Amino acid sequence: MSTFKAFRTEEIDGKFISSVQQIDKNTLPENEVLIKVLYSGINYKDLLSSKGNKGVTRKYPHTPGIDAAGIVVEDSSASFSQGAEVVVMGYDLGMNLDGGFAEYISVPAAWVMPKPTKFTLKETMLIGTSGFTAALGISKMLRMGQTPTDGAVIVSGATGGVGSFAVQMLSALGFEVCAITGKEDAHAMLESLGAKEILKRSDVLVSPEKPLLRPRWAGALDTVGGEMLAAIIKQCKKEGSVATCGNVGGMGLPLTVLPFILNGVNLLGINAADTLMATRQKVWTLLEEIANPQALAGMGKEISLEEVAQALTLIENGAHNGRFLIRIAD
Ligand SMILES: NC(=O)c1ccc[n+]([C@@H]2O[C@H](COP(=O)([O-])OP(=O)(O)OC[C@H]3O[C@@H](n4cnc5c(N)ncnc54)[C@H](OP(=O)(O)O)[C@@H]3O)[C@@H](O)[C@H]2O)c1
Repeated sequence: MSTFKAFRTEEIDGKFISSVQQIDKNTLPENEVLIKVLYSGINYKDLLSSKGNKGVTRKYPHTPGIDAAGIVVEDSSASFSQGAEVVVMGYDLGMNLDGGFAEYISVPAAWVMPKPTKFTLKETMLIGTSGFTAALGISKMLRMGQTPTDGAVIVSGATGGVGSFAVQMLSALGFEVCAITGKEDAHAMLESLGAKEILKRSDVLVSPEKPLLRPRWAGALDTVGGEMLAAIIKQCKKEGSVATCGNVGGMGLPLTVLPFILNGVNLLGINAADTLMATRQKVWTLLEEIANPQALAGMGKEISLEEVAQALTLIENGAHNGRFLIRIAD
């Protein structure tokens, strides 16, 4: 291999332009493990990286892609044998190290995880950082003692990558799940994932001036942040846990301390990228128990590298359901 195919983002005259290119193998960073990538998937952070968000990616040209699954070509650390099926997700992959939207990646051995046995490589990328993040949030809620008998839980951004997995997995654990969505045509899809009730965003974003609201849910997994997260916390029942991972609805959190000091609500932060390897293994074990990639396969759209730009535009416009799975090689 002297050249390989990659979805590359370049900074040209202050603008960020992406295209599929044949690039020299010498552009790969020198790390311990060289992996032939078979599948990747698109996450919100990849959109930010491809748009030149310097909080995500400092230097261009760059290859986005925070998730990759494939086969080990060579490993100078001798941790993995040639041909081993492996998964790399998070750390600095696709952020400041060339990522999974390419036929090859070169990464530190400490970032590489053997493929979980229950899933195929394709299924690991259907789950990807989205499913992993949902499972990480759910594992934190469970650790705080949240149980289905406490009452219904709510998921925001429910048709998104993280939200759709959260709906499916919380339902699989026996929780009654209420899904919040901005998409009127997504009800059937959310019900098929297990949602028992579906709400519009405006049903939740009520009386923003009030510091506390009538308690409605026993817990939540929020992917939106901003006013949505504040409204969910104000409407959480006593001792409930709210896990939060995203900011598509804003970075601010317009709240008082009252939900915490009067209702004892637990706010649980999620950071998937920097999860320690030991915790990753535990979360994948939970995923093996409760994630149903077949149920989600119908809403995971398989695309080629050449179709990534179009998929990123749909994500930018909020005009997609579920995940985009990128098939790079067989
Ligand atoms: N902390 C972490 O470790 C971590 C890991 C993964 C992702 N994230 C973050 O989590 C968030 C969700 O990621 P994702 O991959 O699921 O993204 P996604 O697939 O783009 O889904 C986001 C969903 O949020 C809803 N939404 C979009 N704009 C909104 C707005 N202005 N107000 C309210 N709802 C809105 C939409 O769902 P509906 O139309 O159904 O409402 C959309 O489908 C992102 O901010 C991402 O960066 C964080």
